[in-house]
Amino acid sequence: MTSTTPFQAADAAPPSRWTARDGAAHYGLPGWGAGYFDADDAGRVVVRPDQRPDRSAALDDVLAELARRGVTPPILIRFPQILEHRAGVIRGAFDRAISDAGYRGRYTCVYPVKVNQHRGVLERISALAPALGLGLEAGSKAELIAVLAATADTPGTPIICNGFKDDECLDLIVLAAAMGRPITPIIERRAELDAALRLSDARRVDVALGLRLKLASPGAGRWQASGGLGSKFGLFVAEAADAARDLIHAGLGRRLTVLHSHIGSQIADLGAVRRAARELARVAVELRRLGASITTLDLGGGLGVDYDGGADGPTSIGYTADEYARALVDETRAVFDDAGEPHPDLITESGRALVAHESVLVTDVVGVSAHAPAPTGPDIAGAGASTLAPLRDLARLAERPPGDDPAGALRRALDARDALTGAFTAGRANLADRALGDRLFRVAGLSAVDALTRTGADPPDADRLADLLFDLYFCNFSIFQSLPDLWALGQRFPACPLTRLDERPTRRAVLCDMTCDSDGEMRSFPGPAGVGGGLMLHEPRPGAPYRVGVFLVGAYQEILGDLHNLFGDPGAAHVTIDDAGRAVIEEVIPGDSADDALRLVGHDT
Ligand SMILES: Cc1ncc(COP(=O)(O)O)c(C=O)c1O
Repeated sequence: MTSTTPFQAADAAPPSRWTARDGAAHYGLPGWGAGYFDADDAGRVVVRPDQRPDRSAALDDVLAELARRGVTPPILIRFPQILEHRAGVIRGAFDRAISDAGYRGRYTCVYPVKVNQHRGVLERISALAPALGLGLEAGSKAELIAVLAATADTPGTPIICNGFKDDECLDLIVLAAAMGRPITPIIERRAELDAALRLSDARRVDVALGLRLKLASPGAGRWQASGGLGSKFGLFVAEAADAARDLIHAGLGRRLTVLHSHIGSQIADLGAVRRAARELARVAVELRRLGASITTLDLGGGLGVDYDGGADGPTSIGYTADEYARALVDETRAVFDDAGEPHPDLITESGRALVAHESVLVTDVVGVSAHAPAPTGPDIAGAGASTLAPLRDLARLAERPPGDDPAGALRRALDARDALTGAFTAGRANLADRALGDRLFRVAGLSAVDALTRTGADPPDADRLADLLFDLYFCNFSIFQSLPDLWALGQRFPACPLTRLDERPTRRAVLCDMTCDSDGEMRSFPGPAGVGGGLMLHEPRPGAPYRVGVFLVGAYQEILGDLHNLFGDPGAAHVTIDDAGRAVIEEVIPGDSADDALRLVGHDT
């Protein structure tokens, strides 16, 4: 393993000047850490579950505590106090917006359980529900059963039911309503409305009803297709008006209480939120004029998480929870005031923003495949006399420094290497030629990259330079199991070593998982440490663990993951931090064993 790479040359400051603060800034912690994650003076990542500087623990200490219980990475650490704090942040944002605007409706944050259905998450949310005015949303029959169970001790928790609902599911909703649960099915299709009325009549229960609308106002961002007129779910406004009229004619207008729309997750632009809120409010006003009750508007999910930490990246958002709340409240108020109608209650189904920060995936670097040291003394003279033109070109490029056009030298070296590979494949070059060419390329390429990075420029053609630029850090986890959105959607997640932030990182690494799939790797990271591709990391020390945390993985990742290569769920631990900054392990949930994974695909073990 080499101890320096061409890239390091760009950072010319002596190592002694690198502090933990530099490390924190390098990895973008002050941005995406959102006050929950930072670095201490010893260069260790700390968690501050309620953003208070005095309640702070190093993740390294948390792992030491877990190790005493025999629990080692890969592990998903959940910090329930972060979830509680997030719920408070969203609550506070809406309370302020409502009070500033003189708004007269109430606000409920309804957690869509599909974002993470783990029992612990649901139970924590339902325990917080009475104090923070939270609700739960179920998108399927199984989720509804989980929600009803999780709210057994807090039966006043509002429940919203979205998604496809067959008779069995609707009947369960009717039964829950009969037991006094505040439950509202959101009608997605006309046939559902007819079935809901039939089943509630049969049991003589007045179930409140909601309608999901396809709005014309589009969302903004990667998930914008989940809203809009072409979306899979919901009624067109004309269909909703027909449904409302039919209910009103049947004397049931008072049961139509909720209007819902979801314009997509991780909304990138508040303008889209404003337009959707206004359109939804306008439909509500019109339906009220027809005679429907419409007491509540449910704007769905979309409150974003700043995975890039304020950098202008593909997964950053440019607004705060306060601004989001103000946009919703102000637009709704304006429409209802104009119409002279009383303000409705408001719901958002904010999932990602509630649970993403809570979970950190910790993985051990178990091996490094570093690019070999630049070879000294390849036979330049011999290559220069070769009958093969690309070998002669590589010899010339390796012989002298790249001069004032390092990008051009790099391109010529890449082209010559490609030509030599072609000659080898065609049988015109032998193994010795190819090996010599590879060594010459390394000498020429490394010195060109070195010269380039000293000018501050990124090398061109990074894809063709992978062997020069990146070391492969193998980590014991599966991207398909633990970070499916990275693989499926190219979503970036912040990552950083848990220790040694007070040391300048010297290696540019691609994080490779343990699956045999070449897609199982992380190459793109927010923060300066990810500029140019890969993530700057330290050289692991023999005998000492080197651990990397992947952050903000609490939303969707645990639940969408799959069994590729039969990697099961990693173990999970629920950890709270006490007032003295000590990690308290509340619960350890073992991961899937190989036996478990084999059984899931029908093998006897
Ligand atoms: C109907 C509905 N509500 C809420 C959500 C949660 O969205 P988010 O996680 O962005 O808050 C989704 C997610 O796609 C959804 O489809």
